Amino acid sequence: MNIAIDGPAGAGKSTVAGKVASQLEYVYIDTGSMYRALAWAVYHHQLPIDDEATVSELLQNNEIRLVRKAGQQHVYWNDTDVTSFIRSNEVSQYASIVASYGSVREQMLVLQRNLAKQGNVVMDGRDIGTHVLPDAEVKIFLTASIRERAERRWKELLAKGSQVQLADLEKEIEERDYRDMNRDVAPLRQADDAVLVDTTGISIDQVVDKILQICERMGESTQ
Ligand code: CDP
Ligand code: CDP
Repeated sequence: MNIAIDGPAGAGKSTVAGKVASQLEYVYIDTGSMYRALAWAVYHHQLPIDDEATVSELLQNNEIRLVRKAGQQHVYWNDTDVTSFIRSNEVSQYASIVASYGSVREQMLVLQRNLAKQGNVVMDGRDIGTHVLPDAEVKIFLTASIRERAERRWKELLAKGSQVQLADLEKEIEERDYRDMNRDVAPLRQADDAVLVDTTGISIDQVVDKILQICERMGESTQ
C-alpha cells in the first residue's frame, strides 16, 4: 500500500507522515526536501532564480539523495548533507519558485516515482495524490487555518533563534500557498479521491490516529 499526504505549508504533513510511516514500518519520503535542496543550491551558488533553464540544468547535473540516519531522513546535494540548511525562509520561498518550473517537476517526478517503486511508502508534498502516485491506496489532504499554520512555523523558527514576526511569516506562507495553488504544472489541490483532514486545533497524535484509521479501512477494503 502507498500513502499520499498533500496540503499547504504548516499543515503538519512531514510530522504526521513520519509518525504514520514509523507506526506502519513504511518508508517515509519527504518530497518537499527535494525541492528545498535544489532551491538551496540555487541560493548558495547565487544563480538566477528566475531562469528556468539554469535551474533545470543544475538539477540535471547534480544528484539529490534521501538518506535515513538515526531514524531521521537526511537530504544530500551530491556529497553535502543540506538537511539543516533548507528550512530557512529564503529557501522556502526559493523552493516554491523552482517548483513552479515544468522542466524541474518532470525530473522530480521521475526521481520520486523511482523512490516509491518498492511500495509501502508514505510520501508527502503538494502533488503526490494528483500526479506522483495517482494510484496510491490512501490519499490524505491535510490542512489547517492560515493563522494556526503560521503560528506553528513561527514557534519552530523562534526556537531556532529567528526574530521573524508572526504577521510577516503569515504573509510569506500565504504567498507561497498562492504560488503553489496557481502554478500551471501540478498545482496544489485536493485529489478527487483524497480524504480531507482539517488539523486546526487538533494534536499531532490525534491526526496520526485518524490517518491510521483511514489506512486500516482502506487496507480492509482492498483485501
Ligand atoms: O510539513 P508541513 O509543512 O505540512 O508541517 P510540519 O512541518 O509537519 O508541521 C509544522 C509544525 O506544526 C511542526 O512544528 C509540528 O510539530 C506542528 N504541528 C502541530 O503543532 N499540530 C499538528 N496537528 C501538526 C503539526
Ligand atoms: O514544509 P512545507 O509545507 O513548508 O514545505 P515543503 O513540503 O518542504 O515544500 C517546499 C516547497 O516545495 C513548497 O512550497 C512547494 O512549492 C514545493 N513542493 C512541490 O511543489 N511539490 C511537492 N511535491 C513538494 C513540495
